[in-house]
Amino acid sequence: MSIVDAPFSLPAPREGCPFDPPPGYREPAPASRVSLWDGTPCWLLTAYQDVRTALTDRRFSADARHPGFPFLSPGRRELVTDKPSFLRLDDPEHSRLRRMLTTDFLIKRVDAMRPQIQRIVDERLDAMLALGSPVDLVAELALPVPSLVICDLLGVPYADHDFFQEQSRRLLDNAASADSVRQALDRLTGYLRELATAKRERFAGAGEELAEADGILAKLAVREDLTVAEVASNGLLLLLAGHETTANMTSLSTLALLRNPEQAERLRADPTLVRGAVEELLRYLTIVHTGLPRVALEDVELGGVAIAAGEGVLCMLATANRDEELFADGSALDVERDARRHLAFGFGVHQCLGQPLARAELQIILETLLRRLPALRLAIPFEEVDFRTDALIYGIRELPVAW
Ligand code: HEM
Repeated sequence: MSIVDAPFSLPAPREGCPFDPPPGYREPAPASRVSLWDGTPCWLLTAYQDVRTALTDRRFSADARHPGFPFLSPGRRELVTDKPSFLRLDDPEHSRLRRMLTTDFLIKRVDAMRPQIQRIVDERLDAMLALGSPVDLVAELALPVPSLVICDLLGVPYADHDFFQEQSRRLLDNAASADSVRQALDRLTGYLRELATAKRERFAGAGEELAEADGILAKLAVREDLTVAEVASNGLLLLLAGHETTANMTSLSTLALLRNPEQAERLRADPTLVRGAVEELLRYLTIVHTGLPRVALEDVELGGVAIAAGEGVLCMLATANRDEELFADGSALDVERDARRHLAFGFGVHQCLGQPLARAELQIILETLLRRLPALRLAIPFEEVDFRTDALIYGIRELPVAW
């Protein structure tokens, strides 16, 4: 244990291999007290077991309205509203809202979407090939595929993608000013409120089945136990989580495979490895890299330290997923490793709702990319790749590739 209370900037700068968590996340380990940008003290939990314990212990709250909640930047504090999405609510409200969506993301439901996802991937790849190399894989494939899929699921017009992708990027930029974040939040919320109101009017009295066929937003909008503000805030959570995460995982995974060609070869030689490979890439890359924030509601002993009521903790998934006790030689990418216990989707009641969808998308994209483009290569030197170090979700801004 070490108590440093040193100012700590998040995301911490990366050094050396851009796929490795920043050394600053690991240094005062396993549990250490740091002070955030505004002087708030906060505990960093970096060991696998401590992170898992904190994420299942009801004495820690995900509700940002509690005093002491750790905000990573002024922009993050700006996101606190009196109508949070269920990501920032505790039970029972959290599960009341989450339950309304569980059937939409069941493995069975997502498996039925696989042919449609495959079609979208093939169409985007055809369009990318027609452009001729080099192209930016982020703009042509990694971003459009999950965006098209989530728009279809939600019932949000994909024609508006320039608008919501740009606003989402600002919202998830940890370095953005409070004003910029507030503006992006207002615009996105306004957009979703308008859509929800229109759907509520259109499907009023039309029956649940018709609303459901239009998508998740209409299904929520016709519920009498939800306000338009609640529909909009949960719609926003899905829209944001539904495209930014998978898009960044796709581009980073592609780059990681190009950087480890022997791993890509193993996958190409045996495509049945793709499911396990996606778990390993989720572990190895851990794109939610700034730590899941929680605040202690009571005094808690954890990781050998005493965390007082009202103190924040950050559950560092990136270091937990490299914990050598669980993942031997964890800094190596090994597509044949059994990585299923990774925490890239979080753990406990808030564990990622969209994980079956994210898995299906990543499995289909990577298998198709490796099969259809056997000569895929990076079109710029690796050192020039522009990583999203400041974003809440780690990724790549552009990935120029050739084939
Ligand atoms: C929650 C990661 C894709 C929807 C989470 C959490 C993590 C995460 C770490 C937990 C947050 C916390 O406990 O504070 C990821 C990763 C993804 C991904 C790495 C892609 C590779 C998706 C997709 C969707 C989605 C595609 C849906 C369309 C959600 C929702 C929550 C969530 C709704 C909140 C769950 C709750 O609070 O009960 N995700 N996610 N995610 N994710 Fe994902």
